[in-house]
Amino acid sequence: MNNIQFIDLQAQRAYLGTKIDDAMARVLEHGRFIMGPEIKTLEANLCAFGKVERTVSCSNGTDAISLPLMAWGIGPGDAVFVPSFTFAATAEVVALTGATPVFVDILPDTFNMDPAHLELAIADVNREGKFTPKVIIAVDLFGQIADYPALKNIADANGLKLISDAAQGYGSSLDGKQAGHWADVVTTSFFPAKPLGCYGDGGAVLTNDAQLADIMESLRVHGKGSDKYDNVRIGLNARLDTLQAAILIEKLNIFGEEIEKRNVIAARYARELGDYVKVPTVLEGAISTWAQYTITATDREQKQAALKEAGIPTAVYYSKPLHQQTAYMNYPQGGNGLPVSDRLATQVFSLPMHPYMDEETQTYIIENVKRIFG
Ligand SMILES: Cc1ncc(COP(=O)(O)O)c(C=O)c1O
Repeated sequence: MNNIQFIDLQAQRAYLGTKIDDAMARVLEHGRFIMGPEIKTLEANLCAFGKVERTVSCSNGTDAISLPLMAWGIGPGDAVFVPSFTFAATAEVVALTGATPVFVDILPDTFNMDPAHLELAIADVNREGKFTPKVIIAVDLFGQIADYPALKNIADANGLKLISDAAQGYGSSLDGKQAGHWADVVTTSFFPAKPLGCYGDGGAVLTNDAQLADIMESLRVHGKGSDKYDNVRIGLNARLDTLQAAILIEKLNIFGEEIEKRNVIAARYARELGDYVKVPTVLEGAISTWAQYTITATDREQKQAALKEAGIPTAVYYSKPLHQQTAYMNYPQGGNGLPVSDRLATQVFSLPMHPYMDEETQTYIIENVKRIFG
């Protein structure tokens, strides 16, 4: 079988017909490329979809995490707890504020932050007394919502803020509630390959805290005050482009439908492959956005090579947890090391996953995985 896509953005474009082109043409016509009317429309639509009061769109999913950290005044002397098994941005933004990322291990079945290990990490930081615990950033890795009821209890018990880095899991839910039900702030990325992606860089911050949202709106435009030339705080240039907002309005309209399609594909993978490989565990009551469909193998490279031979693309997220990476290896780790992150980094790889995968293509992938894992 030819040309199997890992993620098929062209199929989504075909499904949307001329909607994206029409939306872009409208922006070219009105010419308000910076903070044009589509920004407010998108933010309102994201509030409705994410069931939150305020959405601040921004330049990318990295700045989206910076904005609340900056708004809360997180900086030198503060500890921010992050999983090590994530994309670098989650910890990078913490280090950029001058605060210290403290690495926490993940659960082996959901790949998300381990609440018990988080408690150990907080206790370590408190005992050492060098840094003050301030924030927990949980990541909804591969599209699955983290265990927010447990994380929120820990945040409350320790007086910490809770951020959901939902770059991969925006739209995921637990018992019908999205992360914003528990987290002070939800951040997301509209990087093209994300479940809700645009055609360039983009991101958003969602919150029910109106005062925080006001500060983040100021921060994303250089710390502006009510007078454009009286900046009241040090900020960023972190606006979302109007063109990307126009694209996202169209994509958000079909996002709920796409999440359902992704879940049909994931359910079939689980049903057919469950006896051959370790398929992802979904928390009871959770709906994942399936940014990735990630399985494990102790001989990953051989398995990936055999699948490649059959024309099936795969990808590894992540081959090195952050605490093993050069820029991050000297930051503290909670508990006695991060054994689950260490192990999974050598074993995980992801199969093609997107809402437009046809049955025949999935059958071909499934048959080959069965043959190779036999
Ligand atoms: C978990 C996570 N956080 C943050 C980001 C950063 O998003 P962006 O690339 O839009 O800055 C990503 C993107 O890859 C991500 O996967």
